[in-house]
Amino acid sequence: MTSPAMGKVLSRRKFFANGIMAVIGVFAAGLGIPLAGFAISPITKKGEETWISIADVDQLKDGEPLQVAYSYTRKDGWRTVEANKTAFILRKADGTPIVLSNICTHLGCAVAWDAPAKQFVCPCHGGAFDAEGKVTGGPPPKPLPQLVAKVEQNKIYVREA
Ligand code: FES
Repeated sequence: MTSPAMGKVLSRRKFFANGIMAVIGVFAAGLGIPLAGFAISPITKKGEETWISIADVDQLKDGEPLQVAYSYTRKDGWRTVEANKTAFILRKADGTPIVLSNICTHLGCAVAWDAPAKQFVCPCHGGAFDAEGKVTGGPPPKPLPQLVAKVEQNKIYVREA
């Protein structure tokens, strides 16, 4: 049988035990949440954008896409990856350069410029694109991807993330 005084002592102990657990919980959350955030941040973080110089404007010829290969370093989750890409730069009728990916939109083969036919051709399934990347034949469902580009001080840059 418990006396009213003993019940009071037990509930005080329980109160302090609960208080200590609450303090430990707050410290654990204070440490655990930032640690968990640090651990998963590479997954949720978007890669930093980088502008890469790929050519000089003077290298462009009218009606003839310039093929360029470039590489850059990017973060992929916890890894640092060296990416190598190829693109085509051409001058539009108004003089502004556009940069096209060389990756076919059908199944990802590398397209090449066919100078006599004045079109990009895909060797895998016969896809064809005009000089501005629009589909002119074969199975590709979309035009060649256009990369985000800018011109500064006579240099052409593409943006990569
Ligand atoms: S991958 Fe280019 S046409 Fe199929």
